[in-house]
Amino acid sequence: MEKNKIISGDCIKVIKEFPKNSIDLIITDPPYGDNVGYGFNNKIIKNNKNPLINCQALVECYRVLRKNSSLYLFTNWKNYPFLTEFILRYTNFKIRHLIVWKKHNFGLGWAFRHQYELVLVLEKGKPKYNLKNFSDVQTCSHINHNDKTHPHEKPIDLIMKMIEHSSREGDLILDPFCGSGAVCVACREMDRNWIGIELDEKYVEMAGGKTQLNFVGGKNDR
Ligand SMILES: C[S@@+](CC[C@H](N)C(=O)[O-])C[C@H]1O[C@@H](n2cnc3c(N)ncnc32)[C@H](O)[C@@H]1O
Repeated sequence: MEKNKIISGDCIKVIKEFPKNSIDLIITDPPYGDNVGYGFNNKIIKNNKNPLINCQALVECYRVLRKNSSLYLFTNWKNYPFLTEFILRYTNFKIRHLIVWKKHNFGLGWAFRHQYELVLVLEKGKPKYNLKNFSDVQTCSHINHNDKTHPHEKPIDLIMKMIEHSSREGDLILDPFCGSGAVCVACREMDRNWIGIELDEKYVEMAGGKTQLNFVGGKNDR
């Protein structure tokens, strides 16, 4: 299994090729399945019509995650009930906690403007956590996006906090829906190994540019 690569492809198929228990931590931000377009550019990401993509990915993630490890899953209030119901009924993950990511400013919207997102913490076995002061409300600015950026780019600072809490140097961290590669960049900053998977070629290019590293698969094989 090649490390420190953005893999171009469908994560459901790609992860099936990974050995069991090979990943130390998963941090991911899948399409929420609500078919919403974001920002002034009304961008719609791939698979955002398909809430089941999360479920399929979780089943594969459980298999490859090492025992006593965690998975941080971004979600929102609309998708949360469906997702937790699925996790409890159809996976072996334990739901350990729900983190609220509070943004400094509120975003676009009408009548009720968005100022938070949710992150589910799932466990396989009994993971250890490194920090004694990890609040379940994390405050961090969101990333403004424009027509050249990914509409869901997540802040590196927030992801670094999760990495610090749930991994050690040299660990291998997976983001199956890596978008612009924020998780991969955070891993690189913190001397963790990483694998990012992304279906949309334009974001594979973007993530590859950010991580200044290699692509594998699809037309980006180089
Ligand atoms: C919410 S975005 C992730 C954004 C990312 N957290 C960032 O900071 O840029 C979800 C990403 O999953 C990708 N995606 C959708 N279906 C996929 C699949 N089956 N396999 C891999 N990536 C997929 C989309 O193209 C989109 O870029």
